Amino acid sequence: MSVSISVGDFRARARRRLPRLIFDYLEGGADEELTLQRNRRAIELLCLRPSALVDVSRIDASIELFGQRHALPLVIAPTGLNSLFWPDGDLALARAATAANIPFAMSSASNARLERIPAEAGGVNWFQLYVMGDRKTAERMMIRAQASGYTALMLTVDVPVGGYRQRDLKNGFKLPFKITPGLALDLALHPRWLAGLLQGGMPSFVNLADAGTGKTSLEAQAALLNRSMDSSLVWENLSWIRRHWPGTLILKGILNPDDARLAKEHGIDGLVVSNHGGRQLDAAQASMEVLPEIIATVGDRMPVLVDSGFRRGTDIVKALSLGARAVLLGRATLYGLAADGERGVNAVLQLLADDIVRTLALMGVPALGQLAPARVIRASL
Ligand SMILES: Cc1cc2nc3c(=O)[nH]c(=O)nc-3n(C[C@H](O)[C@H](O)[C@H](O)COP(=O)(O)O)c2cc1C
Repeated sequence: MSVSISVGDFRARARRRLPRLIFDYLEGGADEELTLQRNRRAIELLCLRPSALVDVSRIDASIELFGQRHALPLVIAPTGLNSLFWPDGDLALARAATAANIPFAMSSASNARLERIPAEAGGVNWFQLYVMGDRKTAERMMIRAQASGYTALMLTVDVPVGGYRQRDLKNGFKLPFKITPGLALDLALHPRWLAGLLQGGMPSFVNLADAGTGKTSLEAQAALLNRSMDSSLVWENLSWIRRHWPGTLILKGILNPDDARLAKEHGIDGLVVSNHGGRQLDAAQASMEVLPEIIATVGDRMPVLVDSGFRRGTDIVKALSLGARAVLLGRATLYGLAADGERGVNAVLQLLADDIVRTLALMGVPALGQLAPARVIRASL
């Protein structure tokens, strides 16, 4: 096998190792995947403006976020069903995040009990909350997350209903799998992945387990997979969240400067500008298009993070130049996970760390604090 030198190489390996319906779940967007493509285009259309003859013999790519120092301006984004990519996938991602000294965001739709992450992976962990129709489930998860050492709650606000994921619908993607002849062939052609699944067992949404019985109700599982969330959740309900989560509260999935203003008024601690990697509202703007306006709205006291489409050090440096405090990685680290488990995630994070440091050196910027919007030019070609 040739050496993997980019996120794209890990993507190719993930694609080879995963059955088609799993790769499509990882890769796909909503509807026509317009926003999925737009995320990349918006990043690619920006150019970086370097300065020459600056001492870049030492580069500092560390950041401070919510009172913690991290080695890199990166966070592993919350993703559901990570054990479909590698056995105990949540743990593998969390351990790699700890090794790289960056935060890991654990999804409500994860496959490891949430207590296992701080206990077995250490590091700085945030818990991503989905509020389902039954709000008691969210309350229980918040209490458990706080008791087990998560330092921030990330409320995802762009899933009032599920996006229309055409690839998943075409593939009949659901759990447990319904074995059709086509799927049987797909699985048979990916024996290494199948062996992992047999070893780890069919993933389920263990964090939706009823506290009393320890069982995950099938209804709750179905609801999560259909992403049928509490679609009546509104800004006033943030006080309910606050009652159960007094610590750092981040909203993920903000694309409208008006919402950023409301978040500030509601005392939110941080924002993630995100369109969920193009998986929710298709035809939404790219995160990088709205980022400057949102940063201008909230000022520099509230950290603004960003995700959707980041695959390279240059992509990340562009976002930081525009004022983002950090970038969340969704698919980039999932490609590493699906290709080679924890080792693969380590390798992707190392690639990106080197890439960021090299980019800063080439830019003539020895520390992230010296990046500024003037470093980014919209391409005219
Ligand atoms: C397979 C997959 C599962 C995801 N699951 C969740 C989730 O459970 N909760 C959530 O807030 N976001 C979820 N997301 C969105 C990511 O957190 C993130 O916003 C997105 O992946 C960023 O785009 P990128 O993949 O281009 O980096 C998921 C994304 C993917 C690709």
